[in-house]
Parts: sequence; structure tokens; C-alpha cells
Amino acid sequence: MTENGKFETSTDVKNVAEFYDELSEDYADMIDFHTRIESEKKIFEKIISDYNIKRCLDAGCGAGIHSIILSKLGVDVVGIDISQAMIEKARELAQTFNSSAKFDVLDFSQIKERYKEEFDLVLCIGNTLVHLLSEKDLLIALRNFYNALKKDGILIVQILNYDKIMGNEERIINVRETPAKIFVRFYDFEPTIIGSPSLRVFEIRKDFLKFNVLVVDKTKNYSHKLITTRIKPIKSEELCRKIQMVGFKKFDLYGNLEGEEFDPKNSKNIVLFANKI
Ligand SMILES: C[S@@+](CC[C@H](N)C(=O)[O-])C[C@H]1O[C@@H](n2cnc3c(N)ncnc32)[C@H](O)[C@@H]1O
Repeated sequence: MTENGKFETSTDVKNVAEFYDELSEDYADMIDFHTRIESEKKIFEKIISDYNIKRCLDAGCGAGIHSIILSKLGVDVVGIDISQAMIEKARELAQTFNSSAKFDVLDFSQIKERYKEEFDLVLCIGNTLVHLLSEKDLLIALRNFYNALKKDGILIVQILNYDKIMGNEERIINVRETPAKIFVRFYDFEPTIIGSPSLRVFEIRKDFLKFNVLVVDKTKNYSHKLITTRIKPIKSEELCRKIQMVGFKKFDLYGNLEGEEFDPKNSKNIVLFANKI
């Protein structure tokens, strides 16, 4: 199928909303939701106290793990996501965890129509930004995050460290096994042909990766499904450049949310804290 009318591909590459709609039933298990909701509490307690966070926008909230953690720590949280099925999952889990977080289906490009200078924290974590497939979409999202923040508010972005992943062509991102299922997340580094068959104009691009999730069901005789979408890796230098373009004047890079130093060759993540001053 084609994606945004631009990509030519022989495999079934889903757009981001379709991809997460299909993954929504398994997503919480895949990310170990129930363990992390406890284990990540301390990290967010510190962030709330360091930056005096009262109201947060969880941008690309998925199944709502961080919205729920923050709301349980007393923060007024709105989680937004482009995937209807993920938002339904987030609402269901929020009820299970007795959380006050609210959730809405919303594309990052639509934030400015809904929210203006309202939040002390915009959180965009869990490798979400790489789902934006053009520079324009990335800049619009970052600008909308900036405008949604109050003065002195903070944006926190976390993506995987694509300086390292692209440098080493790392294919396997994560393997996880639960009693019922096995999840393997991996990339294909093959070049992408972009073009218009009618105009006979094609371009070979190496700046996209195919992101695959293989789900194996052990309870059903190891039957499996493979879900694929496309991502656009962002390296640290590009993230810093774009963050300045949208107006942030002060920012710092780390290797994780606890403030470990960022090392382009070894860090697992790129974590950015940007202040609106
Ligand atoms: C990798 S998941 C991360 C979810 C969550 N933040 C976490 O850490 O578990 C990325 C999420 O971002 C959402 N997303 C991607 N592009 C988006 C966009 N343009 N607008 C809103 N949500 C988007 C996807 O639907 C998906 O649920």
C-alpha cells in the first residue's frame, strides 16, 4: 500500500494510526506497562518537584502509562494520540488504575487549535517523534509543543539514540517474552523509493527505516503477526537544531530521564529537556 500517497512499497507498511490501532491490544504487554507504572514513579516525582509541574500534556500518550503515573502524583494530565484504539486503551487503563487523566484523539498538528500556553510540562516520550515523516511535520509538532507551554514551562522529549543506531545499523531494538506472547521490535535499513509513477520521478532515500513488530502467540501454537510502519530517525544534532528553530533558547541533552550524560556512541536514548523562557 502507499503511505501519504508518497511511498512505493511491496510490503504492507501501515500509516502510524493504523499501526498503533493494530498494536493497541498488545501494547501494554509489549511495554511491560504494569511493572513500569510502579518502577518509573520515582523519576516523575523528581521531575514534578524540580519543575513545579501542575498541568501536563502527554503528547503521543499511547496506552497512557505516563499520563497515569503523573496523574497519580497529583498532576492534571491530558493525554493525546492520533490512534483512536490507543486512546480507548488509555481510558480503560486509567479506570483500572483509578487515574484522573483525560484522553483525546488529536494529531500533533491540531494542538494549536485546542491548547494555548496551558501546560507546565509537555511530555513527548517513548520514541514518538520519529513517527513524524517530514521535516515540516516535525517542526509543526515542536512549535505546537512550544506554544502549548506556559512561560517557564518545560518540554521533555525522549527518542532512541539514532546517532548510535544509524551508525551501527542496529536492527534489533527490543525482545520481550510474557507467559503468552513474544514481542520482537526490529528495523529494516533498506533504502526507500519515493516518487510519483505518473510523473516518472523517483528518489532513493536512506533516511527512513521500516519499524516492525513481530508478535508471536505461544498460546496459539506460535502463530504470529508482523506489523510494519515507517519512521524517520532523528539524530541529536538535528533535534537540537529544530528545537532552537521553534523558539526554545535553553535546552540540555541527556542519555536518560534521570539525567545521565548523553554519549552519542553509547547512550541508549536521546533525552532533551527544553525550557520556555
Ligand atoms: C511509541 S508510542 C509511545 C507511546 C507512549 N508515549 C509510551 O511511552 O508508551 C508512539 C505514540 O505516538 C502516537 N503518535 C504518533 N504520531 C502522532 C501524531 N502525529 N499525533 C498524535 N499522536 C501520534 C502513536 O499513535 C503512538 O501511540
